[in-house]
Amino acid sequence: MIGERLLAAQRARFTAADPVVPVPPGTPDGELLTAATASGERVAGVLQTRTYAPGTLDLLWSAQRVWQLFPYPGESGTEGMDALLRAWRHRMDAESPGPDSACTVTWPSRDAPAIRAFLQHGMVPISVLAIRTGPPPAQPPPGDVTVRLARPEDFEEVRALTKETFDYTELVTSRGRPEAVELMTPQLRRNLAAGAPVWLAETGGVATAIADCGWIESAPGTWAAELLPPGRWGYVNNVATTPGARGNGIGQALMAAVHRDFAGHRATGSYLYYNPTNPLSSVFWPRQGYRPLWTFWEVQPASALR
Ligand SMILES: CC(C)(COP(=O)(O)OP(=O)(O)OC[C@H]1O[C@@H](n2cnc3c(N)ncnc32)[C@H](O)[C@@H]1OP(=O)(O)O)[C@@H](O)C(=O)NCCC(=O)NCCS
Repeated sequence: MIGERLLAAQRARFTAADPVVPVPPGTPDGELLTAATASGERVAGVLQTRTYAPGTLDLLWSAQRVWQLFPYPGESGTEGMDALLRAWRHRMDAESPGPDSACTVTWPSRDAPAIRAFLQHGMVPISVLAIRTGPPPAQPPPGDVTVRLARPEDFEEVRALTKETFDYTELVTSRGRPEAVELMTPQLRRNLAAGAPVWLAETGGVATAIADCGWIESAPGTWAAELLPPGRWGYVNNVATTPGARGNGIGQALMAAVHRDFAGHRATGSYLYYNPTNPLSSVFWPRQGYRPLWTFWEVQPASALR
């Protein structure tokens, strides 16, 4: 059991690092790991393991076998986290993870002292959850780009543009799933049929960019409430511009229309995930008003945790 002292320290630490990060509601179930810093402060963590079946959508962003640590590093800055990660390394000696595996931790992006500990143990910031809560940009004068909701008959264009995201992501991250688009196809068809907010930008009548979006309610007790402040959030899933059309303002025009639509539906804000190693999206999203809230740290295979 994680004690009250560590839980209170966690709440104080998260709030001090970033007041927008939701206060941790309680402790998850799992295997308890404990450690102590050189000065004798006791720290702890909960370890969960998961194996995803072939064909599940989670495999688009996750290794097949995952060891996820929920750290409670107390108030000792880098040191408590470091002690805990060392204990985790020893614990992993009892496992034979295989190549499609990872050790992961999700942690507030702005807790700077923890970053050094993650890096020292071989973890990399594979992804961030970023939010935008500002007002939408003003309506620009009509230009070359038109933005509209996609319809079921746009399926082929939507699928081809979705593939562009995966093709590019595969170049700039360590994870590639050749079957990514196949995994996505049933959901894409369902979303288009249901009139989900999947947006297309067209240049001269030709589809040049996609923003596949949705809605997420962050209500007490839901998984979303552990990551996002309460409210109704616009979710920006896949976004891509065709390679030859990038850098011409199409992505910006598309997202301006999406942000105006979210605001028109009284969204609390919008959120998305991007890879810090993606040289296009890591610049593009902050310029569209997004800032990191959570960082997803990962080392793969899981046996490579140092
Ligand atoms: C991220 C992405 C959707 C942006 O779309 P876009 O239509 O290129 O966006 P914009 O042209 O509005 O803005 C891109 C920025 O990069 C700059 N840029 C310059 N040359 C560029 C080039 N050859 N390619 C891409 N961007 C370029 C643009 O000038 C612009 O910067 P600015 O804000 O200073 O003007 C697009 O780069 C893309 O499809 N990337 C690959 C897939 C991807 O990473 N998706 C996001 C996953 S989270």
